[in-house]
Amino acid sequence: MTIEPTAFMSKMEKRIGFTPEDKSVLNSHADWGQGIASTMADHFYAYLGRDEEMSAILKEKEGRMHRLHETFIQWFHQMFTGMDNWGKEYADCRWHIGLVHVKIGIAPQHVVPAMAVVVHEVGKQLKVDGKSDELQAALGRICMIDLAFIEQAYVEVSSSAVLRETGWSEALFKRLIATGASSM
Ligand code: HEM
Repeated sequence: MTIEPTAFMSKMEKRIGFTPEDKSVLNSHADWGQGIASTMADHFYAYLGRDEEMSAILKEKEGRMHRLHETFIQWFHQMFTGMDNWGKEYADCRWHIGLVHVKIGIAPQHVVPAMAVVVHEVGKQLKVDGKSDELQAALGRICMIDLAFIEQAYVEVSSSAVLRETGWSEALFKRLIATGASSM
């Protein structure tokens, strides 16, 4: 029950409607993206810092905040360049980011609002800089694809762990979840 990142990427592109035109508009604004990445990182970590749980996670390890600021800038810029035109390298990178968050115990309840902050802050910056609605829509779509990777990592890691530990079949596991959910 584990995903193949490139196949998942293609599926999400289709489902979310991330088009070649979106890629082209993002590519042509890669320098703009690079230029605002540090400010976006500041907004992002200021937001996480205001939340008690997330702030505690950020402070857990020496140097974490500094490292995160740098990795956020890279992540943000990669949404514009697509790394290898949103191919295998991009998909593997997003899958890896998902796994890192699962390992640390950062849940969907943390990640979804955090991505909303990115979308909101970048939206404000787009307006200030007089950028197009097309760029805003393309950024919204790639943010949702990246979010889907992190969310999916939870499902995959949790299910794989249960299946490995118990030896249950996937069908049995799905049936148990369905039964459990209906008794809640
Ligand atoms: C929009 C959602 C998010 C994005 C795009 C994002 C991005 C990233 C990236 C690119 C990395 C580096 C992964 C690597 O090591 O290769 C990372 C790691 C990490 N993120 Fe996030 N993140 C998000 C949400 C969160 C939230 C909500 C928290 C909560 C505190 C968080 C805390 C962390 C921590 C603690 C690490 C590991 C840092 C370390 O190396 O010690 N992230 N994140």
